[in-house]
Amino acid sequence: MEPGTVSDRLQSMSPEPLGEIIRGTVERLLDAQQPRELDCTAADLLRAAMGADIEHHRPKGNLMKISVIGTGLIGAQVVGDLTAAGHEASGHSRSTGVDLLTGDGLDDALRGAQVAVNLTNSPTFDDDSLDFFRTSVTNLLAAAQAAGVGHLVTLSIVGVDQVPDMAYYRAKTLQEKLVEAGPIPYSIVRATQFMEFIAPTMESTTDGEVVRLPATPIQPISSAEVAAAVAEVAMGSPLHGIRNIAGPDVFTLDELGRITLEAKGNHRHVVTDPTAGLFAVVKGDVLTAPQGARLFGTHYRDWLRSH
Ligand SMILES: NC(=O)c1ccc[n+]([C@@H]2O[C@H](COP(=O)([O-])OP(=O)(O)OC[C@H]3O[C@@H](n4cnc5c(N)ncnc54)[C@H](OP(=O)(O)O)[C@@H]3O)[C@@H](O)[C@H]2O)c1
Repeated sequence: MEPGTVSDRLQSMSPEPLGEIIRGTVERLLDAQQPRELDCTAADLLRAAMGADIEHHRPKGNLMKISVIGTGLIGAQVVGDLTAAGHEASGHSRSTGVDLLTGDGLDDALRGAQVAVNLTNSPTFDDDSLDFFRTSVTNLLAAAQAAGVGHLVTLSIVGVDQVPDMAYYRAKTLQEKLVEAGPIPYSIVRATQFMEFIAPTMESTTDGEVVRLPATPIQPISSAEVAAAVAEVAMGSPLHGIRNIAGPDVFTLDELGRITLEAKGNHRHVVTDPTAGLFAVVKGDVLTAPQGARLFGTHYRDWLRSH
């Protein structure tokens, strides 16, 4: 093949599939133990392969205006990550005059944005959360369409559609379905439970000296890693599907409770109670990483040491 032809083809391709193709080509040559056959063109391919991952995340003059709705635990970090990567990212919530339930301020927040990222949350986990997600997503989809937004990113929960007995998870499943059926090219990032979420979960079933928790399998992930994954998806092309992300280790929730109390020097103790709290209705290990999920590296015990 003519080197010029290869070069033309490389330039016409986007970096991610290009990186995969190049990597595969080089690996095949090396597997065949024919390093001398790595001619000039293959060496170019190798250099390109090594640079492809980095190039993929560099805006390259293709800076985007990205509107992040929800500036809480994840939203604030996503705005920081996107800004650090060179994009024009802005965070919006009721505290900045943008309300997804009434639509107030939404048109201004989305004006000129190529990408919208929804990181809002319902104030309650009960049946009212269904109305929150139905109304907020319906308003966001309409406003995003009117503004010409080309990519809507939504943060959801691993296994969310496998827990029909929990109102909040039914509400998040409804959020996903509305996004999937909507007019905007979309990406859904499903994360496992945040490490920051473990202590508040324990508080809701603490009574005096006792914390009651079921032995539900949980694979916690740090919010910083969730934010990085959401930002990465927002900077890329719409997935038209779901990306699952998770922490590195599976624990039972009662075990996570004991680890947390011990790390904090808290004298309370955990009683395993299959009927306690929100996660009592979860069946089996549906909240842990499914096959193909991307696993991140922060271990819960290490995270506890710095939080
Ligand atoms: N916790 C977990 O373990 C977990 C796991 C996987 C996925 N998730 C998902 O992650 C998402 C983000 O969670 P988070 O912990 O970052 O939430 P968070 O800290 O509670 O922040 C929620 C944000 O939503 C904004 N908001 C609430 N109502 C709004 C409205 N009507 N209009 C506009 N903004 C509104 C809030 O700001 P204002 O009050 O100022 O409006 C706040 O900035 C949630 O959808 C959750 O389902 C959570």
